[in-house]
Amino acid sequence: MNLKEYLAARVQAVDAALERWVPAETVPPQTIHRAMRYSLFAGGKRIRPVLCIGAAEAVASAYSGIEDAACTLEMIHTYSLIHDDLPALDNDDLRRGRPTNHVVFGDAMAILAGDSLLTLAFEVLSKLPHANDAVKASLIKELATASGTVGGMIGGQVHDIEGERQTPTAALLESIHRAKTGALLRASVRMGAIYAGASADQLAALSSYGEHTGLAFQIVDDILDVEQSSETLGKTAGKDQAQQKITFPAVYGLDQSKRMAAQERQAAHDALTPFGDSAAPLREIADFIVNRNA
Ligand code: IPE
Ligand code: IPE
Ligand code: MG
Ligand code: MG
Ligand code: MG
Repeated sequence: MNLKEYLAARVQAVDAALERWVPAETVPPQTIHRAMRYSLFAGGKRIRPVLCIGAAEAVASAYSGIEDAACTLEMIHTYSLIHDDLPALDNDDLRRGRPTNHVVFGDAMAILAGDSLLTLAFEVLSKLPHANDAVKASLIKELATASGTVGGMIGGQVHDIEGERQTPTAALLESIHRAKTGALLRASVRMGAIYAGASADQLAALSSYGEHTGLAFQIVDDILDVEQSSETLGKTAGKDQAQQKITFPAVYGLDQSKRMAAQERQAAHDALTPFGDSAAPLREIADFIVNRNA
């Protein structure tokens, strides 16, 4: 399998689903729909929806409409980025190779664009055309919990913001990363598994894969912030040190951080042992997450 072609096909399906669910720019109030679409269609990697689809494929071959569920992860993720970039949070002016949402639309509209993507994600899950009510409820629970304050994305963002200028410790670092990024990546995998009707054992194995992949993802995000240019990243490089963030390179140094990302990748692979060829894409996605340069 060629990973590039695999990713391109899934990204296309996810983009088509987003196109269907997000109101057109011509629908009033037009400003908010323009702001939502501006950040959604700015060329993100779509890692979370692709993980969701990959997990479903690992579990079963017969289901439809997974891209509708998967695209809700991109709505939550994009909302989190719009808010992460706001002046009151990381105060960034470059994202996905473009001026950030608040730079173009103003703080008020950027806050509302984030709010509306968050809300729309749950509206879509409640309306999934090909899932029964029990599956819909499970998906809503997964996404809400992973986005929330207790071990979820918002909780991690709170620790991240409050951690600025605090002494970095290994324990604080891991709790920030597991929550702010890891929880949504884990939920991405779990939602795909649940959608495809995973057994309890399959769900446990895929949750472990998601945890290790999620931690690897944020370790690499921290490394790239140090090593890459803003041009390559499409977002401002060197921000973490400037804002005294608690990151893997700050706590462990670059070399050790790279070894830890490689260990997480291996642990992610190990978690997939019960699956055969059906999990080949998930193995390659874990490798991609660790080896990427943006
Ligand atoms: C960046 O996420 C923010 C983090 C959670 C670390 P991605 O690297 O997935 O960003 P996009 O979606 O490709 O822009
Ligand atoms: C953001 O983490 C995680 C989110 C929940 C959005 P970062 O602040 O490290 O993300 P980047 O580096 O700005 O993309
Ligand atoms: Mg941040
Ligand atoms: Mg940031
Ligand atoms: Mg970062």
